Amino acid sequence: MAHVVFVCLGNICRSPMAEGIFNEMIRQRGLKGQITVDSVGTGGWHEGETAHPGTRQILAEHGITYVGQARQIQAADLSEADYLVAMDTSNLNGIKRLGETHAELFRLLDLVPKAGTKDVPDPYYTGDFETVYNLVYAGCEALLEKIVQQEGLQV
Ligand code: 4NP
Repeated sequence: MAHVVFVCLGNICRSPMAEGIFNEMIRQRGLKGQITVDSVGTGGWHEGETAHPGTRQILAEHGITYVGQARQIQAADLSEADYLVAMDTSNLNGIKRLGETHAELFRLLDLVPKAGTKDVPDPYYTGDFETVYNLVYAGCEALLEKIVQQEGLQV
């Protein structure tokens, strides 16, 4: 079992989008039960809130219902995750400041060289949830291939 935790700032826009997309890919590939997924924010301002309407809408347009609630990253996430996947460089540095983890820690777009950026832009400020969806989708596809290979999963 591999445990993946996506991390953004508020846990209402980008990381819940990644969680929804990645869970759907896992379901479609028949890998449920082999990979578990969660998402958190480095900040706690939106603790307990549902995902941003823009995230819920773009997920719904792709047939994905997201019902998770925002929460702030905690020590257990560092110890329980196998893959800690940050949405941007600031999130990555925020995670590193929290301390040691055995998890593999990287930015989602480190896996997508052709994206031309390492940082998933924040739609909380840009309002562009479609661009974010496309970047996160590409990142999740690459992440799934990486995990399938590294963990030797049967697909
Ligand atoms: P997220 O976007 O990190 O993709 O969830 C944000 C959500 C909330 C805030 C910033 C970014 N905020 O400052 O409240």
